[in-house]
Amino acid sequence: MKITVVGAGAVGASCAEYIAMKNFASEVVLLDIKEGYAEGKAMDLMQTASLNNFDTKISGSTNDYSKTASSDVVVITSGIPRKPGMTREELIGINAGIVKTVSENLLQHSPNAVVIVVSNPMDTMTYLVHKTTGLPKNRIIGMGGALDSARFKYRIAEALDAPISDVDGMVLGGHSDTGMVPLIDHATRNSVKISEFLSAERMDEIVAETKVGGATLTKLLGTSAWYAPGAAVSSLVQAIACDQKKIFPCSALLNGEYGLDDLCIGVPVVLGKNGIESIVEIELSDAEKAKMQESAIGVKKTNGLLNL
Ligand code: LAC
Repeated sequence: MKITVVGAGAVGASCAEYIAMKNFASEVVLLDIKEGYAEGKAMDLMQTASLNNFDTKISGSTNDYSKTASSDVVVITSGIPRKPGMTREELIGINAGIVKTVSENLLQHSPNAVVIVVSNPMDTMTYLVHKTTGLPKNRIIGMGGALDSARFKYRIAEALDAPISDVDGMVLGGHSDTGMVPLIDHATRNSVKISEFLSAERMDEIVAETKVGGATLTKLLGTSAWYAPGAAVSSLVQAIACDQKKIFPCSALLNGEYGLDDLCIGVPVVLGKNGIESIVEIELSDAEKAKMQESAIGVKKTNGLLNL
């Protein structure tokens, strides 16, 4: 199983590290445009192999896409991250051109790969890859909901003072401060709805904290986060590479599901060897449906900024 990660910045390198640590891939190629950067990160990571007990071979390349040939899964993290005070949407001007070029280069050498898009504004970048490559829709996946759900579960566990392994919950909608739809009424602790333990006010706080999860970290770090984004991507890659058929909320191209059409937005999907094996349509309340519609309006507005 060969995986390529484009962009050897903090998110790309964390992603390569977590993939290697999970020890399911034979090879990870890190690629970056900055001379020697991906090679350096790959060498540093390889020198952790004997310490961290993995056999995955990580190599680096300065923009030589022939090294990525015949990858099974490719991950696009390229582009600029946001700075404190910026929204993900403000990155579109620079990142759209980069993501288009990167996806074309990748597919030239790995025409059968499943593509995972991480670059922001992620839902719009995922839509751009659909529009410009024309790949079957199951093979293009946007990573946002898996990360947002991890942040949601962190906040729920904190509020409950419970171990995270006791907690389950999902965030749908757009990967933006205003677009996320944390499904708080579906969240559980060991199958018990969290409303059994928490007040409505505390649940509202969890929703608000989850929606600005990325912005909170950007403010603290001076740039956007990388550990949880890298870990979230590695979980999606593993589900595809190992044909796990696990459910993750991911940005998928919709054609009528959830009453939405012609956009990519976060919905629950089953991930397996074909990428998106199916989109799971769960029953939402009227309030949740309205939030999804509102989120879709925001994503479509950002899509409108693309020169398609
Ligand atoms: C975040 C970036 C990856 O939410 O969008 O941290």
